Amino acid sequence: MAAALQVKNLSKTYITNKRQNNVLKNINFTIEAGEMVAIMGPSGSGKSTLLYSVSGMDRPTAGEVMLAGKEITSLNEKGLAQVRLNDMGFIFQQMHMLKNLSIIDNILLPAYQSDKNHRTKQEINAYCKELMHKLGISEIAENDITEVSGGQLQRACICRSLMNQPAILFADEPTGALNRGASEEVMGELMRLNEEGTTIMLVSHDLKVAAKCSRILYIVDGNIKGELKLPRQGQALKEQADEKSIIRERERKVNNWLNDMGW
Ligand SMILES: Nc1ncnc2c1ncn2[C@@H]1O[C@H](COP(=O)(O)OP(=O)(O)OP(=O)(O)O)[C@@H](O)[C@H]1O
Ligand SMILES: [Mg+2]
Repeated sequence: MAAALQVKNLSKTYITNKRQNNVLKNINFTIEAGEMVAIMGPSGSGKSTLLYSVSGMDRPTAGEVMLAGKEITSLNEKGLAQVRLNDMGFIFQQMHMLKNLSIIDNILLPAYQSDKNHRTKQEINAYCKELMHKLGISEIAENDITEVSGGQLQRACICRSLMNQPAILFADEPTGALNRGASEEVMGELMRLNEEGTTIMLVSHDLKVAAKCSRILYIVDGNIKGELKLPRQGQALKEQADEKSIIRERERKVNNWLNDMGW
């Protein structure tokens, strides 16, 4: 399979009050198309910085990032803006949407701003409706963003991030602001999208979230300290009588590994 993301010798240094903070130190990894990878690690270890640096949201200090077949660190601002619009989707913990637009208009916005695939307005609208149906939020299309639940708003954010059919979806603690039920819902949607072929890289503090992924990278102090591969947890699991014990076993395995990592 082709690599969806290839990161070589990535470093990020912040300078604050004339002091140098080397947040990411020579990071190397590859994410193959179709993977679902979780990034874990202590607070302040550089997880969000890593996600921002490899997605084109921010510029690394050094290193190479191949995203959707482009070396994005050498792009100018305009090129980088195009990557953000067309080649990747980004989901935040604190869900951002424009207050003066309905849910559906928020979701449509990036597609109207993009000329990717040269879609007509009708095609864009049809794709939006299809996504909203898939994510189970058709009925809140015309709602104001304040008139929906946290889980619905995050599912709307996922729809918006998918409008331009990105090669990879990044998510920084996508369930961090949600209660347990809504978190399960959102993770179920992300898993289903991944099964259908969307590559996902997410950051999470939640062992249950990470245990649903096919690989976990553990970051400490700006370095990848360890990696855990897990068998794919497909939706087919739902039909198995011992679903709960399989999930418990995965979480136990992740928990033991996290203990080894010093979590
Ligand atoms: N824009 C910035 N300017 C200066 N320093 C920053 C900036 N963003 C992050 N840092 C510093 O970089 C380090 C890593 O921060 P980062 O947000 O990547 O950690 P994290 O692993 O995502 O933590 P958390 O789990 O709390 O979200 C911290 O020391 C932080 O203070
Ligand atoms: Mg963070």
